Amino acid sequence: MISLPEYPDLQVCVLAAGQGKRMRSNQPKVLHKVLGRAMIDYVLHTVEELRPKSIAVVTGHASEQVRAHVGQPANLSWVIQDKQLGTGHAVKQCEEVIRDVRDVLIVCGDTPLLRSDTLSALVDVHRSNDAAVTVLTAKVDEPYGYGRIQRDAKGNVTGIVEEKDASDDERRIAEVSSGIYCVRHDVLFDLLYKIGNRNAQGEYYLPDIVPLALANDQRVDAIAMRDMAEMIGVNNRVQLSEVEDLMQQRIIRDWQMQGVTVEKPDTVRIEATVNLGVDVVIQAGCYLIGSTRVGDGCRVGPNAVLVDAWLDDDVEVFAFSHIYSANVGAGTQIGPYGRLRPGTVLGEDVHVGNFVEIKNSIVDRGSKINHLSYIGDTDMGSGCNVGAGSITCNYDGANKHRTRIGDDVFVGSDTKLIAPVEVHSGATIGAGSIVSKDVESGGLTLSERPDQRHIANWQRPSKRKG
Ligand code: UD1
Ligand code: CA
Repeated sequence: MISLPEYPDLQVCVLAAGQGKRMRSNQPKVLHKVLGRAMIDYVLHTVEELRPKSIAVVTGHASEQVRAHVGQPANLSWVIQDKQLGTGHAVKQCEEVIRDVRDVLIVCGDTPLLRSDTLSALVDVHRSNDAAVTVLTAKVDEPYGYGRIQRDAKGNVTGIVEEKDASDDERRIAEVSSGIYCVRHDVLFDLLYKIGNRNAQGEYYLPDIVPLALANDQRVDAIAMRDMAEMIGVNNRVQLSEVEDLMQQRIIRDWQMQGVTVEKPDTVRIEATVNLGVDVVIQAGCYLIGSTRVGDGCRVGPNAVLVDAWLDDDVEVFAFSHIYSANVGAGTQIGPYGRLRPGTVLGEDVHVGNFVEIKNSIVDRGSKINHLSYIGDTDMGSGCNVGAGSITCNYDGANKHRTRIGDDVFVGSDTKLIAPVEVHSGATIGAGSIVSKDVESGGLTLSERPDQRHIANWQRPSKRKG
């Protein structure tokens, strides 16, 4: 981690009032998620790293939803922009909440890849140049959609022209505005009061402060950022997936640097909210989602899905297993094709084999359920062995019932345990049993088996010819 300077005399404004029409969504744009985390959360986290005096977030469209999502951090103030009349108008709404700072850093809520060291460099350059306005720019291959940076023959910035207002020549300009500005507080609002809305969109454009400041003989700098990817603004779902890909590369790289092996990283999804230990191996095609946490030395995959899963150390999750909202003890093995559903808690060294589904159950240390079984609403002790094809019949069509199994119980293959039922420690149940009464410990319990017959001279049918 690079340590950044702190900025106690800096105000941050985050613009997040737009509906995001191009997303075609019922959800406000900044709440759309990139690898499991809302875009606004990335931006707020990034600006927070500068330790600014305060952060103002401008909301308008669906502001209740945005506020409910973010909550109320101490240094954050909410500013309402009733009508979305443009980015300049949005910043103007912040006038009342900005006090006693040197500069105002303006960022958009739809640029989740932005990094705090980039912002810190922007503020530092702005201050060392003693500029009135500094805009962060980038040279891009596809400038479509962004404001283009206009420069004079000497290379000095003269203005910013929006896509919809640009001439064909201007549209060919490859240097674009990131939408991120650092502006001296003592000039910002004078400039904002002067901007008009005579343009293609009838909006008050924040970029118009550039020519206005120049007209006042105030210094304006446009500085290019190193990694243009950081400024990608998400306006539609195509850009959302582009940003997600870039974020995924970043997150995987970070985990690799912290001791995680990721095989075929292009095929893996590891959300921003996931936590991984050292010497974890994530194989191809795995999805690690939500609050998933994987302990040291675990091996997962290929093609496993972990959603809000908690794995202690040295767990092995084999191919095509699915774990959703379950806890797995150290040294336990799952799959291939295992499925753990919500409320499942497995102890240490448990074996859950292929085509086994476990739901809302506790399975204690060393127990084995290795083949084709369903265990639901069950408390199982340690050292048990559940034979292939055994099922807890937990649902009577209206209510769920629990099955209780003690320690060291042997359940023969193809047994049906009809809940509610209890199997005491040390019991053995014969294969093919239907158990509807409590089973005592010791001895052998089995239900009546249908008779077996033999027909000696029986002929196997053969295939008809022709
Ligand atoms: C904007 C910039 C453009 C820049 C690009 C970078 C303007 C006019 N254009 O274009 O120069 O290249 O960002 O990504 O500034 N917002 C409000 N209130 C409003 C309008 C917008 O809060 O009235 C917010 C939006 O929620 C969004 C941000 O401002 O977070 C930018 O708005 P958006 O509509 O995405 O602007 P772009 O067309 O991307
Ligand atoms: Ca945008």
